[in-house]
Amino acid sequence: MADGPSVGFSSFSLPTAGVLVVFCDEGLRLGSATRRLLGPAAGLVARAAAADRFKGKSGSSLDLVAPGDLKVARLVVIGCGKPADLKRKDFVKLGGIAMGKIPAAAASATILAELPNKAMNPEQAADLGLGVRLRGYRFDRYKTKRKDDEEKPQAVKVDIGVADAARVRTAWTARNGLADSVLLARDLINEPANVLYPAEFARRAGALKRLGVAVDVLDVGAMKKLGMNALLGVGQGSVHESRVVIMRWNGGKKDAAPVAFIGKGVCFDTGGISIKPAASMEDMKGDMAGAACVVGVMQALAARKAKVNALGAIGLVENMPDGNAQRPGDIVKTMSGQTIEIINTDAEGRLVLADVLHYVNTKYKPRFMIDLATLTGAIMVALGQEYAGLFGNDDKLADRLVKAGQATGERVWRMPLGPEYDKMIDSKFADMKNTGGRWGGSITAAQLLARFVGKTAWAHLDIAGTGFSSSQTEINRSWGGGWGVQLLDRLVAEYYER
Ligand code: BES
Ligand code: MN
Ligand code: ZN
Repeated sequence: MADGPSVGFSSFSLPTAGVLVVFCDEGLRLGSATRRLLGPAAGLVARAAAADRFKGKSGSSLDLVAPGDLKVARLVVIGCGKPADLKRKDFVKLGGIAMGKIPAAAASATILAELPNKAMNPEQAADLGLGVRLRGYRFDRYKTKRKDDEEKPQAVKVDIGVADAARVRTAWTARNGLADSVLLARDLINEPANVLYPAEFARRAGALKRLGVAVDVLDVGAMKKLGMNALLGVGQGSVHESRVVIMRWNGGKKDAAPVAFIGKGVCFDTGGISIKPAASMEDMKGDMAGAACVVGVMQALAARKAKVNALGAIGLVENMPDGNAQRPGDIVKTMSGQTIEIINTDAEGRLVLADVLHYVNTKYKPRFMIDLATLTGAIMVALGQEYAGLFGNDDKLADRLVKAGQATGERVWRMPLGPEYDKMIDSKFADMKNTGGRWGGSITAAQLLARFVGKTAWAHLDIAGTGFSSSQTEINRSWGGGWGVQLLDRLVAEYYER
């Protein structure tokens, strides 16, 4: 019904309407340009702060309605704690907090990108803009009416005041592209499964072609020829045909091995014959959050013309109970030749990934593989919604993911793998079984994946906890967080671009 905020930059000046947002520190100090622009109104801040016990603590805010001496309708002061402690991700959060203080009815807002001790640099100002766009996101395309007392949200124009607007342009182009990519992932996650089934998902991934990404789709016939029977077995109970989509961005050296991202794309997970209970089953429209993130990352890399060869591969299926659905006890032969006994048809993500990981590894010989999957409820028991579970066979790749996680706020926590856990998925009848019992459920799921990655450097991110219900409320008030896009974009930028 309304688009999100549109963000622009201009040099510091005082707006004559709308909402004005400024920043202060723990001593309620304002920046020099901010003080100059506010003039006598700066005194109001101190008075209102005392009345409100506002101390400028990081993330707190003070609201002044119709401040005398100013023409704006509202002045918002946001605390940023100790400016020297602010990290890059904190500027994204400050932008999100600012956006959160702009009322739905506002048509325009101005944010002065100045810290008490100095003007924000172009990167920091652009990060504010990223936060504004992430926080301003809504998924309301299916709302056709509004209650009488509900304000109609407008596409608010947010102007960010900076020292030198021309110098922000490059940084903003990159951040704006990143925002688009996170929002694309969110849209895919939020879209209901009657709209977003595998073929439709593949079609939407095809839109990346306009950015110069090569997009190839494997249909059921192609997958049968390749022998992807583990993936096909999951989808065989659905009227919607399965798909695999391969996206390639070649911005690196010719013939350099690509970095590869692989996503679980279960468009809906009923559990299949091992059907799930009804409570919260609707959330399983988000069981393709891994695939959504991979599409988002590929778009982000292409949008900023990243100097890297990158490959995104997503396995798209719908897991349904049906006369033709796969049964517990069934044995499937994977593309790798290894066989899997199905114990529980609800442990379907690992079956999809087994074939896609093997396909990517053998066909593209990637530099590393990182898969993302809403794989196990058990990872939520272990880590809640704050960290994704990180598993892998390569310490260097794992360390880099941990660092990129700290830098972006999309944090990962390393979990163990080992032969003791691997044993737990040995099967009486086949090479392995698809569940390893109740204990260590996230680990045994990862052990199954490990059997399909060969010697390639590999990391597995279990995003069941982080994938669609974000805890980062400063920059995300909606279901479907688009988690992982910033993390992987940063990983590539820091370590893998030539
Ligand atoms: N998609 C689910 C995991 C999940 C649950 C993600 C809740 C997000 C929120 C996955 O396919 C699944 O059903 N896993 C089972 C595995 C079990 C049957 C071994 C689980 O975690 O219960
Ligand atoms: Mn499942
Ligand atoms: Zn699932």
